[in-house]
Amino acid sequence: MARTIAVSGSASGIGASLAGMLRDAGDTVIGIDRHDADVRADLSVPEGRAGAVAETLERAGGRLDAVVACAGVSDFTIMPVKVNFFGVVGLLEGLRPALARAEAPRAAVVGSISGTHPVDDATVRACLGLDEPAALAAAAKVEESGAGGLLYPSSKSALVQWVRRVCTAPEWAGAGIPLNAVAPGVVRTPMSAPLFEDEGMFQIMKEAVPMPLNGFAGPEVIAEALRWLISPANTHMTGQVIYVDGGAEATLRDASLF
Ligand code: NAI
Repeated sequence: MARTIAVSGSASGIGASLAGMLRDAGDTVIGIDRHDADVRADLSVPEGRAGAVAETLERAGGRLDAVVACAGVSDFTIMPVKVNFFGVVGLLEGLRPALARAEAPRAAVVGSISGTHPVDDATVRACLGLDEPAALAAAAKVEESGAGGLLYPSSKSALVQWVRRVCTAPEWAGAGIPLNAVAPGVVRTPMSAPLFEDEGMFQIMKEAVPMPLNGFAGPEVIAEALRWLISPANTHMTGQVIYVDGGAEATLRDASLF
């Protein structure tokens, strides 16, 4: 059965791969991105998110079968907090009522192995309190202190914690909407390209994200996992963080975690 699915970050990398797969399968995809998308919007700011939600709802006729939030940025500024946390949460919360009208609604986000790396606690706490001004103030302090490398992991850690907190709520589980995250290791996309171009960065990345199983992934690998999570077949998995990372999480984290 053809479905209507909103995909953010549809212009590049993982989002583009997923949008292509879904379209090839006959689904209607509403792509959301800053450029080359059905809905052009800047998800880093509240007004951009509101515009994206309004235009997506209009295109979807108020009913969506799935939403996948792939849009993200990776740098040492406050941008990851704006886009990767508040951009994702704002989009999902805005589109949730349209999901609740579907027969088999599904939602998924893209976390990262970086979410298991060191974070700035104050930024993560403010994100989880859904206090964007406080989160951006905390993040700005971190950026100014020269520790901006903590902000991408902070945005992804907060995002998967948010998923786990809300997934069982009446608005999500109670409305029949599974909400999960895929957490990739290193994926070959325009986002990671600079890491491959610089020998020093490449060595640091290989140590920070060891991938003994099949090495770096292509975007289609992550897209396939997202595709299953948002398929009607996923009736009972929610609140999970699926590491599609070539074994990085299993290598880096305490084996007694589970
Ligand atoms: P990408 O750079 O190829 O694509 C990201 C897309 O998000 C772009 O089309 C970009 O225009 C869009 N975007 C960025 N900021 C936006 C904004 N303010 N408003 C609207 N759209 C915006 O990156 P990739 O690799 O496909 O990343 C997708 C997701 O996967 C991101 O959330 C990223 O953090 C995550 N990820 C990527 C990894 C990698 O190694 N490439 C590893 C782990 C996670």
